[in-house]
Amino acid sequence: GRVAVIMGGTSAEREISLRSGHEVLKGLQAAGVDAFGIDLGNAGANPVAQLLDSQFDRAFLILHGRGGEDGTIQGLLEMMGKPYTGSGVAASALGMDKLRCKQLWQGAGLPTPAFAVLDANTDLGMVEAQLGYPMMVKPAHEGSSIGMSKVRSRAELESAYAAASEYDSCVIAEQWVNGPEFTIALLNGQALPVIRLETPHDFYDFDAKYAAADTHYHFDTRLTEAQTETLQQLALQAFNVAGCRGWGRIDAMMDADGHFQLLEVNTAPGMTDHSLVPMAAREAGISFEQLVVEILSIAEA
Ligand code: DAL
Ligand code: MG
Repeated sequence: GRVAVIMGGTSAEREISLRSGHEVLKGLQAAGVDAFGIDLGNAGANPVAQLLDSQFDRAFLILHGRGGEDGTIQGLLEMMGKPYTGSGVAASALGMDKLRCKQLWQGAGLPTPAFAVLDANTDLGMVEAQLGYPMMVKPAHEGSSIGMSKVRSRAELESAYAAASEYDSCVIAEQWVNGPEFTIALLNGQALPVIRLETPHDFYDFDAKYAAADTHYHFDTRLTEAQTETLQQLALQAFNVAGCRGWGRIDAMMDADGHFQLLEVNTAPGMTDHSLVPMAAREAGISFEQLVVEILSIAEA
C-alpha cells in the first residue's frame, strides 16, 4: 500500500525533520516503495485535516519534537487505524519528556545523571549544593540540544534557566558528566554499533549536530568489548523499560568513574545526512534504503 512519510511539524526541530523526511522519502522511493511526503503543519495547515485528507495505508513518522515525536500524532493514527513506524503513544510521550523518562529509569535502577527540576520558585542554593558546577540546563521537552546550556556559576544558571524557559515550562538541571558521549541506535531489538562523539564545543550542541565540520564520529569507541556489550545492553534495557518499539536512539555518557549514564531516548531520531542512526546502520552493513525499509516493515497499528 501507499506510505505517507510524515515530516515537518511545528516544533523547534521542524527544519531538521524536513531534512530527515526528504532523505527517508528518497530512500523508500529508491527501494521501490510507493511513498509520498506530507509536510505537517506547513504554512499553518491543520495537521488533523491534512492527515484525514491524505490517502495512505501506513505512515513513516519522522517528525521530531513536540506535536509529532511525543505521542500526539501516534494517537491520531491509532484512531484512524493506520499502522505507523516507531514507538506507540505512551512511549513516544515519555521519550519526549526528559524529566519523567529519567524518573522511570531511576525507578528501574538504570543509571542517569542526578538532576533537579527548576522553576521560578526553586532554591538555587539547594540545586548548587546537590549538583555542583558545572551543570547542564535543559528544557524537558526539546530535542537537538535546543535551549540547552552548560553553566558554571549562579549568574549563568539564572540566564540558562531563562533561556530554557523560552522553550518549555518544565526545565531541568543535570549534574555534569564529563564524557565521552556515546550514542546507540536500536533497530528491531538489536543495538547497532556504538558511536563515540567528539566535539571541541562545550557539548554536542545544535551546531555540532548539524553544521560544524569539527564534530567527529568514531566507531573506534576506545571501549573494551565488555564495555561495549554493557553499553549496548543498557541501551536496549532503557529502550524496553520505556516501552519503546521498532527503532530509536539512546544517548549516553561515561562518567569519571567509568560508568555509563543514560541521557535520553529519541523515538524518531534524525535521519539527515549528518545523523547518527544512518551512520551506525552503514557501519553494520545496512544501507540507508535497507534501513528505511526495515523500519517500515515493523510499523504497527
Ligand atoms: N532530536 C534529533 C532529531 C535527534 O535526536 O536526532
Ligand atoms: Mg532528543
